[in-house]
Amino acid sequence: MLIGILKEAQAGETRVAATPSTVAQLVKLGYDVVLDPDAGALSSFTDDVYVAAGASIGDALGADIVFGINPPTPAQRDALKPGATLVATLGVRQDLDMVRDLASRPITALAMDAVPRISRAQSLDVLSSMANISGYRAVIEAAHEFGRFFTGQVTAAGKVPPAKVLVVGAGVAGLAAIGAAGSLGAVVRATDPRPEVADQVGSLGGEYLSVSDDTEVSTTGYAQEMGDDYKAKEAALYGAQCADVDIIVTTALIPGRPAPRIITAPMVAAMKPGSVIVDMAASPGGGNVEGSVAGEKVITDGGVTIIGYTDLAGRLPTQASQLYGQNLVNLMKLLTPGKDGQLVLDFDDVVQRGMTVVRDGELAWPPPEIAVSSAPPTKPAEVEPTPTKQPMSTGTKAALVCGGIAIFGLLNALAPTDRLRTHFTVLMLSIVIGYYVIGKVAHALHTPLMSVTNAISGVVVVGALLTVTADDTLVRGLSAVAILLASINVIGGFAVTRRMLAMFGKGH
Ligand code: NAI
Repeated sequence: MLIGILKEAQAGETRVAATPSTVAQLVKLGYDVVLDPDAGALSSFTDDVYVAAGASIGDALGADIVFGINPPTPAQRDALKPGATLVATLGVRQDLDMVRDLASRPITALAMDAVPRISRAQSLDVLSSMANISGYRAVIEAAHEFGRFFTGQVTAAGKVPPAKVLVVGAGVAGLAAIGAAGSLGAVVRATDPRPEVADQVGSLGGEYLSVSDDTEVSTTGYAQEMGDDYKAKEAALYGAQCADVDIIVTTALIPGRPAPRIITAPMVAAMKPGSVIVDMAASPGGGNVEGSVAGEKVITDGGVTIIGYTDLAGRLPTQASQLYGQNLVNLMKLLTPGKDGQLVLDFDDVVQRGMTVVRDGELAWPPPEIAVSSAPPTKPAEVEPTPTKQPMSTGTKAALVCGGIAIFGLLNALAPTDRLRTHFTVLMLSIVIGYYVIGKVAHALHTPLMSVTNAISGVVVVGALLTVTADDTLVRGLSAVAILLASINVIGGFAVTRRMLAMFGKGH
């Protein structure tokens, strides 16, 4: 079958539904690929590189399967051939007229924005991949407008405090924003009515601010509409935060409802001049921030910049096209079980069923409800209480110490030579110091600590090298074994340290 990649018709759209690397993967699945001329020009992909990847340039709308980013224009819909399969973000939840129009045509329509949010479908979830890019870009836009560093510095000219960033809503976009702001060196805080996100915020280096202690864990994986008491506490928290932070990125959304208004005009007015707000939820119907304008940047009388751009993913077009195209490749892998270039739609699969809006001219929207996998269990599993270890009593401790000293004294008295006595004392002192050094270090740090101290085995190697030439066969044997074991420790120690450092390094 032939897959056609549209040149997007929507003004300002910079993305394209396939990149040379995704075209190559589609060809591998047995499909032929045709692109509209200059389809990828705004994403920095020329027609030549697509041709080199195995595609041809021609009329994408005449293909058996048509890939797009945005809902098709009426002219594009008219040009689809009978029996074609259209795959794009169709905005079906917002635009029922579009659904009816598509259903009046002898085609099949798959909505990429209706992929169910279950873990198995994550690889096709364009809303997540675009929200991820947008959250990152929101921070970059804020950094561009902000007149200071994000990171704190101590310079010869004086100390620079780090910027403080508040991320409202820790969903996909929010978590990406937390990660991006943290990696630029800012102090990051985040809010979300779902307390279960606290760990995710913490793992990205952010601090989770809880609005209310009695918030219930969500049962759907999404936030629910909040009550009046919660809203009052929320207003108090944001009032205090606005006076303190430099940057706010709002991503709050409850599916199926208009975005909640969270940052009011007086809160914006309380922010320091030069502060920046990015309202990711900005839309013509409003957003999370009073005064934000969809698609625009406004500067308030108090000198606060409010960014309401709605094309944040498109501001990183090469990256956004790559991830969108890869989501489509993953979809086609699902729809091409024979890897033979033949699309097979399986309605028993909840993912395929969930995103099908029209099948062979028949309306298939809305799909039957399915439970989202991110929902946590309604009741946490009961955990057997583990028996706690009784701490040793002071008497036992004193008896053990006295016993130890007595044995040490006895062995010292019985030692045949002075040299042996000195070595034995050094050994005992090392054990005591080692016990306290290791015992006072957190368990999580034992591996890096041990891997570094293992280098001390180098001293053993030196000692054993000095004795390996001794006349006594037993001493020679023991020295050889010591060299072998200590060398393993030295090399292993450095290898483990390198791995640990790499884990904490960038990109891991
Ligand atoms: P998501 O559903 O993954 O996350 C939304 C988060 O907001 C959830 O964690 C939810 O619990 C939280 N939330 C709900 N009510 C809240 C409240 N009162 N206070 C604090 N948090 C609250 O959504 P996703 O994918 O992260 O998208 C976030 C927003 O970004 C959406 O409004 C989406 O339309 C928008 N977006 C904007 C783009 C742009 O270019 N401007 C591009 C992509 C997404």
